[in-house]
Amino acid sequence: TERTLVLIKPDGVKRNLTGAILARIEAKGYTLAELKKMDATRELLEEHYAEHVGKPFYEPLVEFMLSGPIVAAVFEGQRVIEGFRSLAGATEPTTAAPGTIRGDFGRDWGTKVQQNLVHGSDSPESAEREIGIWFGK
Ligand code: GTP
Ligand code: MG
Repeated sequence: TERTLVLIKPDGVKRNLTGAILARIEAKGYTLAELKKMDATRELLEEHYAEHVGKPFYEPLVEFMLSGPIVAAVFEGQRVIEGFRSLAGATEPTTAAPGTIRGDFGRDWGTKVQQNLVHGSDSPESAEREIGIWFGK
């Protein structure tokens, strides 16, 4: 079955939303395969966000991701990559649809980067690459 990498970003962990977010993913019917709380490092983030290196929001994004612990998880299930991105909602929390994680729990905080609670892989190739980064091969 398909796998995806989910990260609960520092805003989600700080706001004690870890359980609520994981519960929504499990309630949808996806299966938790791996889970850990950890501190990201600049090296891991540079690999993870390789596609964004050099963009104006890259450095604020890295600073944000280093601002506190994160939770990394692997979820499994039929079409889980697409399914989790649907649960997460649009990148911008202000306009993400109500009913989604970002739409229900997030808003714009006026910071340089979208503090949007979660990350989810966007393709099977990204998922395998990102699971390798955070959990090893
Ligand atoms: P992820 O699941 O976190 O990858 O979100 P995404 O796929 O919806 O967004 P994307 O991969 O394009 O960007 C990664 C992260 O960078 C986003 O989740 C935001 O935190 C931040 N980000 C992306 N685009 C912008 C932008 O245009 N402006 C700002 N300020 N932040 C952005
Ligand atoms: Mg992305």
